[in-house]
Amino acid sequence: MDGNGRWAAARGYPRFYGHIRGAARVKEVVRASREIGVRALTLYAFSTENWKRPEEELAVLWKILRKYLRREVGELKKQGIRLHVIGEIDRLPRDAGMELRSAVETLSGGRHMELTFALSYGGRAEILAAAKSIAREALQGKLDPESLGEAEFAARLATGGLPGSGDVDLMIRTSGEKRISNFLLWQSSYAELDFPEVQWPEFTVERYRECLQAFSTRKRRFGGV
Ligand code: IPE
Ligand code: MG
Repeated sequence: MDGNGRWAAARGYPRFYGHIRGAARVKEVVRASREIGVRALTLYAFSTENWKRPEEELAVLWKILRKYLRREVGELKKQGIRLHVIGEIDRLPRDAGMELRSAVETLSGGRHMELTFALSYGGRAEILAAAKSIAREALQGKLDPESLGEAEFAARLATGGLPGSGDVDLMIRTSGEKRISNFLLWQSSYAELDFPEVQWPEFTVERYRECLQAFSTRKRRFGGV
């Protein structure tokens, strides 16, 4: 999700207003995903680099997150949506972290869709953490590095429990920037990429459906013929 700040600035609003409008899109896109039958949706809500932002903006983001959870958990539960969080959740303010954990717990029985929030997430950090845990196991003699395949490595990533070991089918980045910005680096090896030229607060369900439609016509060969 990119472009909240620019969307607001272009209209003479403070940046935080862009985040408020962006949160409304999150709600719509999550609900639409469930309706359409998307099995897993992962939202890059906050990167490890986003900590560099001014304190006031960060405070608004955590407030929006808490409000979203408070307002939506009931509906998510009704819809059978399970919630996951990937990233350094311990770095979040205490109350936001607590509400997130409680929402994950409340929604743990969901079987119809996996919704993941990437918060204080970085793809390199995730891969490094998996490599370290493997090195530790090897040092303790619990694992033979030679026996380790890609599937076993993927299982040690934060997304290991998601359908298809967390492999991304379609990655959508709004705002027109053609960058991956440290998102799901391992998991996106064969992802189809889409960079819609709209800011996140303008990313309507209709626009989302267009992305899914375009994806469904792509021929995915995974390196084959
Ligand atoms: C994306 O919008 C949402 C978050 C990272 C929280 P930005 O905040 O990155 O908006 P721009 O890129 O500055 O316009
Ligand atoms: Mg941005």
